[in-house]
Amino acid sequence: MISLQNIEKVYRTDTIQTLALNNISLDVAKGEFLSIMGPSGCGKSTLLNIMGLLDAPSKGSVRIDSQQTNSLGDKQLAAFRNKKLGFIFQSYHLINDLQVLDNVELPLLYRDTTAKQRRELAAQALEKVGLSNRMKHFPTQLSGGQRQRVAIARAIVGRPEIILADEPTGNLDSVMGNEIMDILTGLNQNEGTTIVMVTHDENMARKTHRLVRLFDGSQVQ
Ligand SMILES: Nc1ncnc2c1ncn2[C@@H]1O[C@H](COP(=O)(O)OP(=O)(O)OP(=O)(O)O)[C@@H](O)[C@H]1O
Ligand SMILES: [Mg+2]
Repeated sequence: MISLQNIEKVYRTDTIQTLALNNISLDVAKGEFLSIMGPSGCGKSTLLNIMGLLDAPSKGSVRIDSQQTNSLGDKQLAAFRNKKLGFIFQSYHLINDLQVLDNVELPLLYRDTTAKQRRELAAQALEKVGLSNRMKHFPTQLSGGQRQRVAIARAIVGRPEIILADEPTGNLDSVMGNEIMDILTGLNQNEGTTIVMVTHDENMARKTHRLVRLFDGSQVQ
């Protein structure tokens, strides 16, 4: 589903050059639930952002669902990303001025949908994460675990085949973290969604199919 070949990422500023990823090759199968671990600064978010086409590698190729992405222009890339991928971040990235339902509808604005369809799909996604009773709330009126569930609803509303999650339980206590993990596991098992998750938590990683470890930009396991 995702195929990375010889990925290198160099960040350059005026004075320093950082090799954030060093020759990473990685294949993620359709329906796989993969976790990525490693110390802070080892390149986990960089790798996830490259998989998610949010950032381009300095070298190497990224193929998603057989599509070679290097050749896509910005507009094509945005459309491809919107259709194929859902993102979940540690800090939720919700829009605080918008009600929960409107937050969840956002990815659908870039698709050919009517307002009524968007409303229905967003309500369905919120039902899946158990938040049907919070649709008219604002994100600031929710707990951390509830905010992350809204973020998951937003990630799945467009039915992406792939979900990329960057420490989705990082800001949550273990009870709420487990709830989020159960939702992700359910999506993987029941809908066949391919999931790549960065985590600091060995317990969470153990619940996934496969673990990749990074150290200093290189894959060590
Ligand atoms: N925009 C940037 N400009 C320059 N260097 C960067 C940039 N983004 C990341 N880096 C560097 O690349 C390396 C990898 O960063 P990355 O954010 O991928 O780490 P991480 O494994 O996700 O860490 P954490 O667990 O703390 O989130 C780090 O050394 C970081 O300083
Ligand atoms: Mg990170």
